[in-house]
Amino acid sequence: MKINFPIVYFAFFLLIGYSFTGCEPDRKKPGYDYFPDMVYSKAYETYQANPNYSDGKTVQNPVEGTISREMIPYQYPKTEEGMKKAGIELTIPKNLVEVNPERGKREYEIFCGICHGSDGKGEGILYKSGKYPTEPASLVSQDMIEKPDGEVFHVITVGSAIMQAHASQIKEEDRWKIILYIKNVLQKDNKKRLDSLASVKKVTK
Ligand code: HEC
Repeated sequence: MKINFPIVYFAFFLLIGYSFTGCEPDRKKPGYDYFPDMVYSKAYETYQANPNYSDGKTVQNPVEGTISREMIPYQYPKTEEGMKKAGIELTIPKNLVEVNPERGKREYEIFCGICHGSDGKGEGILYKSGKYPTEPASLVSQDMIEKPDGEVFHVITVGSAIMQAHASQIKEEDRWKIILYIKNVLQKDNKKRLDSLASVKKVTK
């Protein structure tokens, strides 16, 4: 048989051309699939209905009474006693004490500063805008300076009277970093300010 080379070449270039255009000139259509087995899984997808289980779901609940690896449930209830207990039993992990305050500052500005203010005095933009019902507590008052770190950790984790819990937004290590930032930067700055005000008063007396 005599092979017709021009036609073979033509078919070959057509094939190459098609593979560059995705075989479908209309960009609004998805084109053709080759070997789609790996695109469309034969296994059940996580949220797909599944006749093999009695509840009809693919994703199954964890066995009752178990927790996932590395997940330690928070054990202090959202009560005054719970807070006091956390205040006695929880302390800043030692490996975090010397860390750079940048991370704590960043997390503070994102999650706390909006209400408590960048300087911690309780006048964040949300409060100043008049859209927040009460004045957020000052975090740099004498009471706060004396508040045990574990109690502040507790407040961030479970919330307070109207302040919401932040456990799902801020991971544990970052909660401690925020506390360190409040203690080592905001409270110190305010103490300096109060001391200098006191000395100005003395001078003018
Ligand atoms: C949406 C506003 C809002 C945000 C965000 C917020 N707080 Fe508060 N916070 C409040 C208000 C209002 C109070 C005072 C009323 C109360 O105790 O719920 C308060 C109270 C507190 C108290 C004192 C609780 C006590 O025992 O008197 C601490 C400590 C505190 N906040 C820390 C934080 C930290 C740290 C963050 C960031 C992780 C934060 N807050 C984020 C509104 C907020």
